[in-house]
Amino acid sequence: MSPPIDAWRNAPIDAARLEAEIEELARFSETPYPSVTRILFTEQDMAARRWLMERMTAAGLAVRVDAVGNIFARWEGTDPDLPPVATGSHCDAIPDAGRFDGVVGVLGGLEAIRALQAAGHTPRRGIELIMFTAEEPTRYALGCLGSRVLAGVVDRERLDALRDAGGGTLDRARAAAGVFGDILGATLEPGHYAAFIELHIEQGPELEASGTPIGVVTAIAAPATLRVELSGAGGHAGAVLMPLRHDPLVAASEVVLAVDREARGSGAPDTVGTVGLLTVDPGAVNSIPRRVRMDIDIRDTDLARRDAVLERVRAAARDAAARHGVGHEEAILNADDPMTSDPAVLDAVESACEEEGLARVRMISRAYHDCVFMARICPAAMVFIPSKDGVSHRPDEYTSPREIAQGTAILAGALRRLSA
Ligand code: HGY
Ligand code: MN
Ligand code: MN
Repeated sequence: MSPPIDAWRNAPIDAARLEAEIEELARFSETPYPSVTRILFTEQDMAARRWLMERMTAAGLAVRVDAVGNIFARWEGTDPDLPPVATGSHCDAIPDAGRFDGVVGVLGGLEAIRALQAAGHTPRRGIELIMFTAEEPTRYALGCLGSRVLAGVVDRERLDALRDAGGGTLDRARAAAGVFGDILGATLEPGHYAAFIELHIEQGPELEASGTPIGVVTAIAAPATLRVELSGAGGHAGAVLMPLRHDPLVAASEVVLAVDREARGSGAPDTVGTVGLLTVDPGAVNSIPRRVRMDIDIRDTDLARRDAVLERVRAAARDAAARHGVGHEEAILNADDPMTSDPAVLDAVESACEEEGLARVRMISRAYHDCVFMARICPAAMVFIPSKDGVSHRPDEYTSPREIAQGTAILAGALRRLSA
């Protein structure tokens, strides 16, 4: 049985304050509680950012915002010449999602810092809390936008080409949000941080199923997104007889089935394929579809297997378009490598678990996180806490205050070690 919440050996985690802050942040949403919808640079996102920066400032941290909207809150160390240790996650949320995804890593990171302060820790290396901009792909169809910029893996051309559903550019949204500066100037050099740790809910069933409070994440699966657009003549749903039709939605339906078939048939359970976003234009019941856009999410822990499935899905889309005589365009929106955690950072997490007397298990993350890109510029790892029924990206996403406090205590212990 885990120690009582107020018996932390590392740092006094204020579980009640942390729980209250998570519940308060959940109210900054376009959808009613417990659903959370918080899209990059919308009014609710901006209000949440202001609220968060107030709390960071209240904790005595030096707060700054970079040119893509990443928020940094630093606790200076006694030796300012040493690269700091970083922690953090995201606060944006996809439509109709939950209140813990990303948030436990930002507010848990803040609580870990406050607990270390209360415990009298004086870090030699500074500790920097980061709230990453747009970890979710909702607005610009590119996930981890903020951490990609920090890692220097997205170029000016790609940034200029980003468009939201209304055709708006990132620069226009930044200006409206009061975020200025050259985005590429926000890129950080390798070694800018000594290490990075992200606390996050598992978003899967493994920790709950095994009754283990802490997951020590050794790797993150490789994510890819393929956009396919199919087009046809469209026309009147009553007047155009079936032999004359070239319906892109019928072709797209075959692509959806191909995604499911190829992911299931990859030869390994770690391959996943999803068509979570499909739009039909003009979108009228009595008009034959004229244009269909599908964003296809394909992931695997094994890069070669992921890429093989991606290629088979691309071929299936071309074949379906040819058979139905419809137009075909495609774009690979992202195809990222998997991430491997750093052994020294993993050891710091394991030592903190040992000290707190908390059971843990090493595991991979099937969801992607900003840690994928932070690992490009510094040694990195993640700490997972359980998700009730393995649910996430749904309003009924849930992790208990005790589980969150336990993850925060481990984060505090690892940060203490890495900043000493
Ligand atoms: O999709 C993901 O893995 C993350 O939740 N954005
Ligand atoms: Mn998410
Ligand atoms: Mn997340």
